Amino acid sequence: MKKIVVALDGYSSCGKSTTAKQVAQELGYAYIDTGAMYRAVTLYFLEHFIDLTNPKKVQEALNNIEVSFQRNSKNGRNEVFLNGLNVEDEIRKMYISEKVSEVSVLAPVRHAMVSEQKKMGKRRGVVMDGRDIGTAVFPDAEVKVFMTAEVDIRARRRQEELLEKGQLVPFDEIVENLQKRDHIDSTREESPLRRAEDAHLLDTSHMTIDEQVDFVLDLVHSAL
Ligand code: C5P
Repeated sequence: MKKIVVALDGYSSCGKSTTAKQVAQELGYAYIDTGAMYRAVTLYFLEHFIDLTNPKKVQEALNNIEVSFQRNSKNGRNEVFLNGLNVEDEIRKMYISEKVSEVSVLAPVRHAMVSEQKKMGKRRGVVMDGRDIGTAVFPDAEVKVFMTAEVDIRARRRQEELLEKGQLVPFDEIVENLQKRDHIDSTREESPLRRAEDAHLLDTSHMTIDEQVDFVLDLVHSAL
């Protein structure tokens, strides 16, 4: 059967990754969490005190970074590895969320990640979530969805996710982080977060995950 690319873009904490994971599972496709890649790069930059204003140092660091995904057979999760080390839990912490958009804005970082993501999806059969999948990584994706939701609802979901991982973060701090990231992500010069002209808009504010998954699957079935 024909294999396609499903691109899910949108604001932070709209339910992109939960939806993408389930859609990928349903279709037997690979799921690529591109945000995890930017988070892993951010972790490396912080650990190695990379000066973000020094393009030479940034490029040198990128040359030393390898980000990959491996399926964990115990929990079925596709986990992210930085230079062979599992960093899945570390990269979800608040100190990474606070820095990641400043790292993602850098052109050499974007070039490296976008080129890696293109390779990962070159045989199609992938569901990729991020900010620029439908516009920069796979402008020819057969299915494009742009997800949004009210900020309070996104922040509440994010707070619950963090709590499940044992991190208690004040609501206001989460709202501020989401808004700051969305602002930096939408206004950067290189592949900013924006809805592709041919992307379907999905406001998840009052939708269940199953409804979101069905919305995407209906689009996939019409595209096949
Ligand atoms: O999806 P997630 O919230 O984990 O993404 C973290 C950050 O990574 C985003 O706020 C954004 O700065 C960056 N990102 C990006 N392009 C992508 C995916 C994520 O710039 N395709």
